[in-house]
Amino acid sequence: MTSEVRAVSPAKVNLALGVGPSGEDGYHRLATVYHAVGLYDEVVARPADRTVLSVSAGGVDVHDVPTDETNLVLRAVRALAGHVSEDLQVALHLHKNIPVAGGLAGGSTDAAAALVATDALFELGLSRAELMKVAADLGSDVPFCLVGGTAVGTGRGELVAPVMTRGSYWWAVVPGVGGLATPSVYGEFDRLAGDSPVEHPSVPDALLSALLAGDLDAVGASLANDLQAPALSLRPELKVPLEAGVDAGAFGALVSGSGPTTVFLCADAEHARDVRDLVCAATGTAVGFVAPGPVSGARVSAAQLAEGPR
Ligand code: C5P
Repeated sequence: MTSEVRAVSPAKVNLALGVGPSGEDGYHRLATVYHAVGLYDEVVARPADRTVLSVSAGGVDVHDVPTDETNLVLRAVRALAGHVSEDLQVALHLHKNIPVAGGLAGGSTDAAAALVATDALFELGLSRAELMKVAADLGSDVPFCLVGGTAVGTGRGELVAPVMTRGSYWWAVVPGVGGLATPSVYGEFDRLAGDSPVEHPSVPDALLSALLAGDLDAVGASLANDLQAPALSLRPELKVPLEAGVDAGAFGALVSGSGPTTVFLCADAEHARDVRDLVCAATGTAVGFVAPGPVSGARVSAAQLAEGPR
């Protein structure tokens, strides 16, 4: 057996996030366009007598990250062990660069990294389809975090189909102050939607065409997020970074997923650095990132980190 496996896994933004009514399982029906960006967490897995998790931080606040069984990294290992009916004991170290509870799928992507790292460490040889099944049971965004790139997500987000895109994009990524709990943002969505949520959310054709053409202007104009209004309702101050990004010349500005991170579509890396700096200055945010997209999903790798924090 290998003595150590390192896996990295990216953050995601939702280029479009259409939210429908919640089903009997309590989850909302979604039609989303996921996009993996080059801001990575890393999971290191080593064989051990018993499964343990430690956490370190690369410039983000990790004091809310649990190291007990509630952490998705440990739940991923337990789920994998259950799937292969083996007693897998592993010492895991999670190094976080992705803001916690930020709407960037940080916890989900850590689970994806843990799945590929543990699969490789014990040479389990699970097929992609098997990993996707285990991933879907862990959380709505986990399957996408395995796949990466740009993809349409339906169901509660776990049904993932790749999208054809041309070119690459640069993003300024600015965390909000503190985190936002995803269930509370969905709860606020329900409150605002009242009795008339959109029954069948869909992905905007204009966005898919723009991605296929690699048309930066059109991609920027098509960005849309149904969780933005509820996130703004809970955190009205989020309008400050959104306006600052537009004033700084971003091609598009939106709340990422359930927030409170805001993301800004930029012309290139230099433009993204400028936008990041101007938005951080407007909000008094100490740490912001610049990241390309789309990038690959969770994979065994040498350390690969996004540029930043500044
Ligand atoms: O699937 P995941 O565990 O990441 O979801 C976290 C929470 O977000 C859920 O408990 C639910 O409150 C909300 N959610 C939802 N509809 C979805 C995905 C998530 O209501 N499609």
